[in-house]
Amino acid sequence: MSPQKKLTPLIPVKITGTGSYLPEKILTNDDLAQFLETSDEWIRTRTGIRTRHILSPEEIPAKMGIEAGQRALAQGRRSPKDVDLLLVATNVPEEPIPGTAPHIALGLGLGKGAFADVTAGCAGFLYALAMAATMIHAGMAKRALVIGTEALSRFVNWQDRATCVLFGDGAGAVLMEAKKGKAGILGVALRGDATKLGLLRIEAGGVRLPASMETVQAGKHFLEMEGKGLFRAAVGMMAEATRAAAAQAGLTLEEIDWVVPHQANLRIIEALVKRLRIPEEKVVVNIERVANTSTASIPIALDELVRAGKVEPGQILALTAFGAGACYGTVILRW
Ligand code: UT7
Repeated sequence: MSPQKKLTPLIPVKITGTGSYLPEKILTNDDLAQFLETSDEWIRTRTGIRTRHILSPEEIPAKMGIEAGQRALAQGRRSPKDVDLLLVATNVPEEPIPGTAPHIALGLGLGKGAFADVTAGCAGFLYALAMAATMIHAGMAKRALVIGTEALSRFVNWQDRATCVLFGDGAGAVLMEAKKGKAGILGVALRGDATKLGLLRIEAGGVRLPASMETVQAGKHFLEMEGKGLFRAAVGMMAEATRAAAAQAGLTLEEIDWVVPHQANLRIIEALVKRLRIPEEKVVVNIERVANTSTASIPIALDELVRAGKVEPGQILALTAFGAGACYGTVILRW
């Protein structure tokens, strides 16, 4: 690629604020071992997870997205009335109809701007980010909030040690706007492999298998996962998408300053960066504290990185994710 391409973002829309929210309640591995046949040692060595945040029964899930959105707005010095597009990435909606976005729009006081949910497994946040940037670039919106929010603790089977130990609740948000200059989105590779749709699913509760006494009794409303199959696919999918996004950006992998990967398993992250030959100190990892928060995992990790003062203007970030669908992808941007 020409050096010229490197100077011009593919989409000159940048992130001008980040925010995140984690519920107060923390569940440790030892807490889980009180009622499950598991151990802190197994969970730590197989996944890297030590703790996760869990939404209390009395908490309203949309509150997480609202709080994260408010924090992103405050950091970007904008108010809700400045936002005319809200995209919410989530896998399990606040209610089947009308979803999550209207609840967050109402809580934030967004007025008459556009809002919608985006569902693409744990890659949903990246899909929403690319959609929001493209809409702003095309003149369909001025300023967007993109929120990833997830309360999978309400959909895991707390007797299934193979899944419930992996997930945590939380939300993350970014504020996006068009800016002149070098910052913006440099490369996008969004992908999917629908032959893998059975690897991670909640079978009942949709139109194919609506809720009934039988579906509840059979536990079909819980999240089911073929962990090994997903593990095997994950590294290849994220590596492929990252290479493609970097090629589109006209960048080599060495030029990436920060990799912000979906936090599904520390071993997956380690294998990914090894395959891409990216030094570990460039990789953002918070899975030990927050576990897998699905669509929220990248914006939470990004917000923590930004608030720690580690991201400098001009640096190159690669955000990469995989999950149910199987949807996956990478977005590369210049800060
Ligand atoms: O966001 C994207 C969605 N999620 C993922 O990407 C997850 C991807 N997969 C993974 O992270 C890993 O496959 C897991 C962490 C889910 C499992 O790790 P693994 O190394 O693939 O273990 P395994 O499924 O092969 O299980 C090994 C053993 C089994 O026992 P046996 O059959 O060898 O006797 C499991 O029953 O570990 C057992 N096991 C547990 N033992 C203690 C499974 N879960 C637990 C547990 N505690 N929590």
